Amino acid sequence: MGGPIPPEIVAEVRERADIVEVIGAYVALKKQGQQYVGLCPFHQERTPSFTVSPQKQMFYCFGCGAGGNVFTFLMQKENLSFPEAVRQAAEKAGIFIPEADGPGEDPRKEKLLAINELAAKFYHQMLADPLRGAEARKYLAGRKVKLEAIKKFSLGYAPGGPEEFLAFAARQGFSPGEVEESGLAVRTADGRRIDRFRQRLIFPITDRRGRVIGFGGRVLGEGSPKYLNTPETVLFQKRRLLYGLSQAAAGIRQAGYAAIVEGYVDVIAAHQYGITWAVASLGTALTLEQARLIREVTSSVCIAYDGDRAGEAATWRGLEILQQAGLQVRIAEMPVGEDPDTFLQRYGSQEFQELLERKSRWLIDYKLEKLAANQKPRGVNDKMKLVETIIPDLARLEHPGERIEYARVVSERLGVSMAAVLAEMEYLQKQDKKVKTRDTKTGTALQALPAHERAQGQLLAWMVQDRDLGRRLLKEVPAGAWADPWAERIAMIMATAIGEGQPGIQWSPATVLAVVQGEDTEAAQRLAEIIWRPWLVPATEENINANLACLKSFALRQSIDTLKQAIRQAEESNREQEVSSLLAEVIELEKKHRSLRFSPGKGGREYSETGNA
Ligand code: UTP
Ligand code: MN
Repeated sequence: MGGPIPPEIVAEVRERADIVEVIGAYVALKKQGQQYVGLCPFHQERTPSFTVSPQKQMFYCFGCGAGGNVFTFLMQKENLSFPEAVRQAAEKAGIFIPEADGPGEDPRKEKLLAINELAAKFYHQMLADPLRGAEARKYLAGRKVKLEAIKKFSLGYAPGGPEEFLAFAARQGFSPGEVEESGLAVRTADGRRIDRFRQRLIFPITDRRGRVIGFGGRVLGEGSPKYLNTPETVLFQKRRLLYGLSQAAAGIRQAGYAAIVEGYVDVIAAHQYGITWAVASLGTALTLEQARLIREVTSSVCIAYDGDRAGEAATWRGLEILQQAGLQVRIAEMPVGEDPDTFLQRYGSQEFQELLERKSRWLIDYKLEKLAANQKPRGVNDKMKLVETIIPDLARLEHPGERIEYARVVSERLGVSMAAVLAEMEYLQKQDKKVKTRDTKTGTALQALPAHERAQGQLLAWMVQDRDLGRRLLKEVPAGAWADPWAERIAMIMATAIGEGQPGIQWSPATVLAVVQGEDTEAAQRLAEIIWRPWLVPATEENINANLACLKSFALRQSIDTLKQAIRQAEESNREQEVSSLLAEVIELEKKHRSLRFSPGKGGREYSETGNA
């Protein structure tokens, strides 16, 4: 385990893993507004400066500058490699990650496809068999599934014997081991292999291109489990498929949206009733990968889940993932106790389409209603808490008009004034911006910083890393040469801590930071940001000198500018003697500047090339 993981899976895990939950296993977190705070696990502290943002799926410590996403956290805390961290997070989020399979033709995959194809054919033939398929055909008839749909979805029947498909596959040259690998056979307690699907109605599941990758099997009538599915294999991953997508793609394009239902039978019923743009999520929460699959066909979906399901937390998260993937999400509310299949049979096609289109509501609208109904807000305080919950959704809306319109819905539904909603929205947006500017500041590409700031930051980053280098650079950067007063402070504090005869502290960024923190919190904040940056430049002699030169050059230019200004003032008031002595000073500094043999343009570029290697 530990091979490279496809980027879309990494993205999926990052979106689905609940960072608050993952970090919460290590740190006691307390909710504070939109964020969570706690004592930083990466440095010693008494007051919490460690912040976790579920919205941004990030953490950042304002004390020590440790920061990143859920993977960074696990890497640092558990000492894991990146793929290991992704796997661990995936496990917590209940996401199956297949072992890396190389690009191009994978013979193992090819074989699985062949077995699945064969099985689909076998089951389909069994359903058509006058004798053996009779019971299943009767069941289908009872559920009003017509021949046309049986063909369109290649429905089948798995007969009752223990080795029916195994025997059939063997005659076609597939070993029991291979059948087991495809998920179509299972081992019994005594080690025998038997068919996974026995006496079940079979729903072949295809990928986008219509290739069979797995199956669902329903008991005929009552029984448990109601459905058996192919287990997760390299080929079959529930979160990467939508049932019926290959059959529905054309219909989705035509309708302009996809109707997402829960079950196999719902899809089949929908298609039978002419709603050919229906696909199913197969009873699980929607994933980013499914969102991407849909986005290839359309940018809009309507969810028509069973009347009793839509309120579940996992469902919510799934719907939010769709929205975050850029899909417009509407909800069609099924009467309690109905699913699309039963609804269609009871009320017909037109009513169902009404439900999907005219009667459906935007996710946010629906969410608000449910929130209010579940939590029964009483006082103003309760209501404002609900407002706070819903505002991130409002803020996500693209058009300001839409936002105001929804603010009105919020105010009506909750019975609070429009002004209160808007005020809250404004307040939270400001908060958000504050955090954002802080983020972008620390997150800016190094290249975007002025050369002298980069040089200064890089030098400090080296100094906190390496005691000897620190000692040397403290000597080499002359007093007043640091570009900012806080950098000067950091240097001074370091000089004291590093001084000979001091009880030696263990020299590391975290400990130096702690020392600085004890002396000057503003300086510590700056240092934390510096430590947070991804400096990747090795401390070679050449790089050290380039940065020193850059910093000195900046300081000299500053001094020269100040002197020139003084000269202008002296000239204006005709203080000739002062002018000439100032001029002499300027000439001296210019000479020094030249002797650095450092032209700012060239030095800057040279720096940034190494600075972003
Ligand atoms: P439902 O219980 O709503 O089943 O589960 P359904 O599709 O309406 O089936 P019928 O109409 O009773 O025959 C919705 C989906 O959840 C998955 C299946 O994909 C099912 O279609 N599921 C459900 C399972 O995988 N296993 C189960 O045991 C139950
Ligand atoms: Mn159902």
